[in-house]
Amino acid sequence: MSTAILGLQWGDEGKGKITHLLARDADMVVRFNGGPNAGHTLIDRGVKFGTHLIPAGAFYRGVTSILAGGMVVDLELLAQEIAAVSDHLGETPRVLLAENAHLILPYHRALEELEGSGAHFGTTRRGIAPAYRDKVAHVGVRAGDLLEPERLRERIALRLDVLRKQWPDSEEVQGYSADRLADDLLAAGRSLREAICDVSPIVDEALRKGRRVLFEGAQGTLLDVDFGTYPYVTSSSTIYAGIGPSLGIALAPIERRVGVAKAYLTRVGEGPFPTELEDPVGVGLRERGGEYGVTTGRPRRCGWLDLVALTYATSLNGVTEIALTKLDVLDGLDEIRLCTGYRLDGRTLDRYPLSGDRLARCEPVYEAMPGWRGPFENPTSLNELPKAAADYVRRIERCVGVRVGIVSYGPRPEDTIGTTL
Ligand code: IMP
Repeated sequence: MSTAILGLQWGDEGKGKITHLLARDADMVVRFNGGPNAGHTLIDRGVKFGTHLIPAGAFYRGVTSILAGGMVVDLELLAQEIAAVSDHLGETPRVLLAENAHLILPYHRALEELEGSGAHFGTTRRGIAPAYRDKVAHVGVRAGDLLEPERLRERIALRLDVLRKQWPDSEEVQGYSADRLADDLLAAGRSLREAICDVSPIVDEALRKGRRVLFEGAQGTLLDVDFGTYPYVTSSSTIYAGIGPSLGIALAPIERRVGVAKAYLTRVGEGPFPTELEDPVGVGLRERGGEYGVTTGRPRRCGWLDLVALTYATSLNGVTEIALTKLDVLDGLDEIRLCTGYRLDGRTLDRYPLSGDRLARCEPVYEAMPGWRGPFENPTSLNELPKAAADYVRRIERCVGVRVGIVSYGPRPEDTIGTTL
């Protein structure tokens, strides 16, 4: 059976660990969106990794890992990650890069600074939005261009012509040379030349033959460019439906859709966050949960679990089961709150607002539940958790209407309860 792993919050839900666990039984792992803005933390045979681009399948021998066309890729970073995983594994993992995936160039990162979008939206400053913008404006550079160096040079030169006119006073922009940028890309991509191909028929055939394909999402539903808290979103489709345009395949065979959600909520970067806690409880969650960005090191904003947002996210993704992570971080609190509704202009909302500005005006309605004292002693089922912790999980299931199939209570693979692992 094929599976999609999708973030249900603002990213950082713990998808890295869950994907790594499920990749163990996969034939193929396909990352379908975003780029090096993602930071997936996982522990493989005792060694901790913070990956940004390489799919989790690379950690297992015999699994094919694919970076799909919907991604934007920093070639140098990808080559470094492949080298680090090869050292760890003792052999080179099989990684394929879609020829229609777009490449991030140095000017994409520079544009975030020049335009101020990095500061204004609190982006990861990895050049993500400028790279996606070039893609839809027909002026992007794709992985496949590496196979035709002359075309690569021409495309970069064309783009630089316009950039130089737009930024006459920027020394950095004026100083770019198309030949040098192309040479750097060709050097960074040398070890990847054989890996660049049309990946869609490969994924399609794997699905048709009933192979176990795992689709690895990055970021989360609330950062989706269309359905997230716009304009405080990322630039790609982070939801289940995003797999389609990224690969050009039918989604029907992807029957299992695991939505990953933290037992509380975090956000990094700007934007509305109704259940944010700017008090010692929020600080405690940040410290106990190690809530600092894998990509940028920024402290994450922390708050109570928002069931209005979670219900919205599970329905957008057609989630068949939730993986609830970091339950242990709530350990030791006297009381835990769950947001079960919003009030806006004196009325109760029954759906998550599409507009970030409306969301900013929503007042959360809370339900309080008793906390528990751990630590958890290697539970293997919900029944072996402290009663209040199990009640918390069951309350989430009842409110959202989706089964919690996996509970993670620590960073190690073994700190996991899972009926379906
Ligand atoms: P960008 O994706 O770098 O353009 O950033 C846009 C917004 O998405 C910012 O608020 C980032 O902090 C957030 N973001 C992007 N990728 C991730 C991620 O992997 N985890 C959490 N937040 C992210």
